[in-house]
Amino acid sequence: MSTDSMNEEGGPTTTEITVTVNGTQVTADVEPRLKLSDFLRYHCDLRGVRVGCEHGVCGACTVEQDGASIKSCLSYAVQADGAKIETVEGLTNDDGSLHPIQEAFHESHALQCGFCTSGFVMATKELLEENPSPTREEIETGLEDNICRCTGYQNIYKAVESAAAKMEDD
Ligand code: FES
Ligand code: FES
Repeated sequence: MSTDSMNEEGGPTTTEITVTVNGTQVTADVEPRLKLSDFLRYHCDLRGVRVGCEHGVCGACTVEQDGASIKSCLSYAVQADGAKIETVEGLTNDDGSLHPIQEAFHESHALQCGFCTSGFVMATKELLEENPSPTREEIETGLEDNICRCTGYQNIYKAVESAAAKMEDD
């Protein structure tokens, strides 16, 4: 670590950030190199944000920042200062009931180990917001930035179709 990243006591410098996470304002002093994914997991205790590759490849860490889905392992917490972040935990309704996308993943058996699921759910949310009635091909393309090692994808695609139908009925 270079000396210019040290404070007077020799520890790393920190920056105060305020982020609205799932509707709640969170203020924290963070090191400039703290990844957003680690901020959400360890400062905010949101373990639905999964960390797989940490290189932007697997999509397990997908969250929404100001309405657009991002891979939170690729950005720093300081870059989210002033932003609104939504994680998979934020989709669940106040009464504990599931969001239609979460329901559809559950009902369609779209997960096995579940490691990738929150990333797929968040990517599906953006996909359906942009295209409420996607074709199978559009679903496959829309989710191509997310990797699942278990399911073979077919039930995930079915879940997205089911979620689209549920959300159309709402
Ligand atoms: S952990 Fe972020 S894309 Fe894999
Ligand atoms: S359910 Fe295991 S990685 Fe997708």
